[in-house]
Amino acid sequence: MSTRGKSRVVLMHPILDPGPSILAEAAEVLAYPPDRPLDEESIRQAAEGCVGIVSQLMDPIRETVLSTPGLKIVSNVAVGYDNIDVAAATAHKVMVTNTPGVLDDATSDFAFTLLMATARRIVEADNFTRQGRFRGWAIDMILGADVFGATLGIIGIGRIGRGVAHRAKGFNMRVLYYDPYPLPPEAEQQLGATRVDLNRLLAESDFVSVHTPLTQDTQHLLSTPQFTAMKRTAILINTSRGPVVDEAALVDALMNRLIAGAGLDVYEREPAVHPGLLAMPNVVLAPHIASATVRTRSEMSAMAARNMATAVRGGRPPNLVNPEVKR
Ligand code: DGY
Repeated sequence: MSTRGKSRVVLMHPILDPGPSILAEAAEVLAYPPDRPLDEESIRQAAEGCVGIVSQLMDPIRETVLSTPGLKIVSNVAVGYDNIDVAAATAHKVMVTNTPGVLDDATSDFAFTLLMATARRIVEADNFTRQGRFRGWAIDMILGADVFGATLGIIGIGRIGRGVAHRAKGFNMRVLYYDPYPLPPEAEQQLGATRVDLNRLLAESDFVSVHTPLTQDTQHLLSTPQFTAMKRTAILINTSRGPVVDEAALVDALMNRLIAGAGLDVYEREPAVHPGLLAMPNVVLAPHIASATVRTRSEMSAMAARNMATAVRGGRPPNLVNPEVKR
């Protein structure tokens, strides 16, 4: 508790309006110094005396942090929460919240953007034009892959996977999906999506788009055997989490032409990007920006701040990922 009678929370990184004012109404907000390292020991020290942490996906929130006395809630400004050890949070009765729903459209749009950009080699084409190399139309200049009518394989048919399937309808794509949990038959029919096993999805898809959360089961879900099973003309899109794809194996697969290209927004060791990827023209690289629209990032900030404010006031935040902590 602060001298002003408000509970203290630590804000790991700035968030967008109206997040800061929602937080300030409920708590005394301590900003994590921007030059301080993002390791568990430093975060724990910052969290001493605080009831909450507003974290982001680059913040490791595990046992050392979660065992801080008096800590009640970690509000992650992201839908993914693989940076948080939820089992340890639950053991310490610390609530964990995320920001589901508000980023589905922006992220689905961006997965489709990467798909189109990689298929039609838009970054190469832009560089080519800027470099003054466009000296006249040529029948074989920067040939790409067809998207309309192609087969799209979606790995993970949660809200964002469904959003991508929805967009694929407009391109008359055949949509296959792989997910341990089948969609209800009406949803499959509405999206025109067929559930298949992973091998069939890999063998038949022209584009494979990854939308599964990172868990122990999905880490390196795609590695050399999976790239070998894909079409040599296939393009991989990843907007979920980097470690779902074995990045070194992906570089080998691209170098050995097991697959034709990749559109990536996420990386195994962010912010590092495998140097092999940087050298490849058939790869489109983005810096983890799939949800980065003004509206979406503002809504994520507001939602995370509301989750925190509700918990600070003793309530049950709406986006609790470990509900067993607060019944
Ligand atoms: C998330 O929310 O998990 C994204 O990766 C960042 O928007």
